[in-house]
Amino acid sequence: MKIESFLKEVPVFETERLLLRKVGLTDLEDVFEFSSDPEVAHHMTWEKNSSKEETLANFLQPAIEGYEEGQSGVWAIVYKKHDKVIGTCSLVDWSNEHHKAEIGYVLNKKYWGAGFAAEAVKEVIKYGFNTLKLNRMEGGCDIDNFGSEKVMLKLGMKFEGVLRKNEFIKGEFRDTKMFSILKDEFESTN
Ligand SMILES: CC(C)(COP(=O)(O)OP(=O)(O)OC[C@H]1O[C@@H](n2cnc3c(N)ncnc32)[C@H](O)[C@@H]1OP(=O)(O)O)[C@@H](O)C(=O)NCCC(=O)NCCS
Repeated sequence: MKIESFLKEVPVFETERLLLRKVGLTDLEDVFEFSSDPEVAHHMTWEKNSSKEETLANFLQPAIEGYEEGQSGVWAIVYKKHDKVIGTCSLVDWSNEHHKAEIGYVLNKKYWGAGFAAEAVKEVIKYGFNTLKLNRMEGGCDIDNFGSEKVMLKLGMKFEGVLRKNEFIKGEFRDTKMFSILKDEFESTN
């Protein structure tokens, strides 16, 4: 079965501190809180959002519309204790042919450094291997995005190399560090 068919039924994941579920229009306030933060946007391909309209048009609406066709692999990360969307994690790209997918994640700065990203993305990786039957999950980060690099290493992903001047971010070409985990590696540790 195609990845899109599974993604139409975006599953809910629950961990000790988090709930991962579809994003919705009522999340606008929370999503704007972190997408408008220049420090959060610094390593991302998108610019910090200047208005809620921008967050709605560029992120929330496309994500919500994409769910119907299985084109949107986006989960809101809800911190249960505060009943608040503190970030998102995603399958940003995938290939049915090659049985692989790429992960992405972003978190409200107030919640950095407490293990939330790793706790959330772990669920997406489990879903990728156990349900989507992927063979490879990959992720990339800016060469100096040390927090993101640490998240991927904590998740058992391996450093593969650097894609030189791979992305044009905030006016300059940036090198990307690539990481991946394979089905066999995941199964031997889970
Ligand atoms: C990257 C990001 C998601 C990490 O979220 P997080 O919840 O803080 O991640 P975790 O706490 O699970 O793990 C981060 C680890 O990196 C460490 N870390 C953070 N910044 C670091 C830095 N500059 N140098 C070294 N280590 C760093 C943290 O201490 C933590 O280590 P620990 O688990 O040993 O305590 C968050 O910083 C973020 O949203 N950044 C902006 C968006 C972004 O860059 N997304 C990724 C795009 S590739």
